[in-house]
Amino acid sequence: MNFIPISQPSITQKEIDYVTDAVKSGWVSSLGEYVEKFEKMFSEYCDTKYSLTTSNGTVALHLTLAALGIKQEDEVIVPNFTFIATANSVKYLGGKVITADIDEETYCISPKAIEKAITSKTKAIIPVHLYGHPANMAEINKIAKENNVFVIEDAAEAHGADINGKKVGGLGDAGIFSLYGNKIITSGEGGIITTNNHALYEKMKYLRDQAMSLEKRYWHTEIGFNYRMTNLQAALAVAQLERIDEMLDKRIEIFSWYHKYLNNINGIKLNPKSENYKNVYWMICVELLNLSEIERDNIMVTLNDKHIDSRPYFYPISEMPMYTTVNAPVTKLISERGINLPCYFDITKEQVVYICKELKKLL
Ligand SMILES: Cc1ncc(COP(=O)(O)O)c(C=O)c1O
Repeated sequence: MNFIPISQPSITQKEIDYVTDAVKSGWVSSLGEYVEKFEKMFSEYCDTKYSLTTSNGTVALHLTLAALGIKQEDEVIVPNFTFIATANSVKYLGGKVITADIDEETYCISPKAIEKAITSKTKAIIPVHLYGHPANMAEINKIAKENNVFVIEDAAEAHGADINGKKVGGLGDAGIFSLYGNKIITSGEGGIITTNNHALYEKMKYLRDQAMSLEKRYWHTEIGFNYRMTNLQAALAVAQLERIDEMLDKRIEIFSWYHKYLNNINGIKLNPKSENYKNVYWMICVELLNLSEIERDNIMVTLNDKHIDSRPYFYPISEMPMYTTVNAPVTKLISERGINLPCYFDITKEQVVYICKELKKLL
């Protein structure tokens, strides 16, 4: 059996044709028809008024927070269980990262924990749709409204996920997505922000393009950024977005294979499935309920010997040296015992059966 990676992009002739077209056009930087095309298509896909491409998902978060005016000492609530970029984006602006614990079933930020964490200094909440499962946006938006704070969805891992048919990215003040090579769709490196707020969109666009005056070229009144996506990246993204439905269907099918072969095993808990929430299974999640962290790590080493890639769940943000925040018992428990297993468009059923068989043997 060849090595089975945790993730791998699906590149077809369509992607090759569009990227070749972009290269041949000479529009290799951020001007060019694919950038606008991708933004338009993505807005239509998420049912939002505006989309703005960026060079990656991390800067999409930074840009959104900067445009919303987050500054020194402002508090921003993020889940304790997430990729580090969610927290770092707040720190870039001198803001204070307040971590909140997660819901044990969905792995997403707990609305109750948000309520406990809110203070008069809270300016925004960043719920993360972790591993492809949407956060409880109805509750989060309710709390945000009562406390007059912004909601930015971190949908880096959840393109196409929805709640009651409403896609993530259109459920808060803004949403951000990553287009890194291991994401649901990719542009190589890349990101995109969605919003229905015209003023916010204009501000983000302005700051993204070095905050250059619209009236006077090369005149700047603020510190801006170059956070633009290239036309080459956008060409790849357009091809991927045209294929997103088949890619999401495949992920659901892959999850059903894992479910069939692992679900009935004692001591294993798979990705959450909640009514009215569409999970897009960015990663296959396996909680090894009866194992210690060391045993979990040993399982990953042995899987690797069997040519199977895996990765540990994210570690709690509160345990990183830069973030000495409050404890979060649910995050800690889950992060110590979880592993992610391979899930990508071209994986075969035979490979998934092999992975499940080897994992069962180890348990
Ligand atoms: C939850 C989350 N937020 C933000 C990001 C940052 O995206 P990027 O890697 O494109 O900068 C990621 C990417 O892995 C992520 O998983």
